[in-house]
Amino acid sequence: ILPKNVTIIEVGPRDGLQNEKNHVDETDKLQFIHSLQAAGIREMELTSFVSPKWVPQMADAKAIVEKSDRIGRQFVLAPNAKGAELALESNADSIAVFVGVSNTFNQKNINRTTEESMDALEPVIAKLKHDGIFVRACISTAFYCPYEGKIELKDVLNLCSRFVSMGVDELSVADTIGMANPVESYELFFQLKKEFPEILITAHFHDTRKMAMANIFAALQAGIDRFDTSAGGLGGCPFAPGATGNVATEDVVNMLDSLGIETGIDVDKICAAVETIAQHVSHPIETGMYRLYKNK
Ligand code: HMG
Ligand code: MG
Repeated sequence: ILPKNVTIIEVGPRDGLQNEKNHVDETDKLQFIHSLQAAGIREMELTSFVSPKWVPQMADAKAIVEKSDRIGRQFVLAPNAKGAELALESNADSIAVFVGVSNTFNQKNINRTTEESMDALEPVIAKLKHDGIFVRACISTAFYCPYEGKIELKDVLNLCSRFVSMGVDELSVADTIGMANPVESYELFFQLKKEFPEILITAHFHDTRKMAMANIFAALQAGIDRFDTSAGGLGGCPFAPGATGNVATEDVVNMLDSLGIETGIDVDKICAAVETIAQHVSHPIETGMYRLYKNK
């Protein structure tokens, strides 16, 4: 049984652009964000409050949050107390913390062990919840790690369980390097739904091996109705070698449309948003639906 409605969380302005080699101007990012909203996007990761030395592309986080129109839920990422503080100062209403199940990945990504990150995030999340902020926890390397290989399902469940006990509102569980297959996707998301029925659960697939669409279908069958996707299939974590873009918003929405599943999002308008950013990125955008749109 498939869901009747699916929520798409657009991650293009954050995951999509963080790894982009060309510097993208603030105004071009804002145009991308506003065109995505015009296409019907109601939940979006706008940017991240991370070290500009580590991720120069996100150095304009404050301006991006302050100048973006508020429609639905705008997420900003924060890896630590400092990030959460900066996010609050810019009046963000929804904050995404992030941790890797794999210790090695977490060290490469945020310079701490997974344990250290979790211990540091506990009081941060408590404060955010006290302040009425929506908190999403992004769980990286939930299937495979570029350094440690296959990740055990029980380790993912344990980490998620800690976040749930800290009071997060949502778990976004990621295939960071696009290695999961549909059976693995079904198994993990089925277990997550079973263990945490009271929490929003979102699937975040990178499409490195072109299995993301199949993994999404498997997750739909496991009862998942929230997906992180990126317009134009942009994306990748700078600290996950081999990872390429996220599954493309326009392709996922098109599949959901064809299955009769409502998203409230217009594929052509997503493609129009992709067109606004295409000229500012360093590589061609060749997703299925964007190609059709360009050739119309
Ligand atoms: P660090 O060097 O260990 O930081 O980096 P520190 O705590 O030692 O502080 C050093 C300096 O950085 C200090 O400044 C701090 O104030 C500053 P100084 O005193 O030298 O002037 N600092 C910050 N500045 C801005 N924002 C902050 C912040 N924190 C400290 N939040 C740190 C640790 C976490 C900062 C660094 O490792 C970092 O920024 N990492 C970013 C990693 C990242 O953005 N990765 C991509 C996002 S995750 C992802 O893509 C995966 C996901 O899509 C899911 C999936 O696909 O798997 C979500
Ligand atoms: Mg990602």
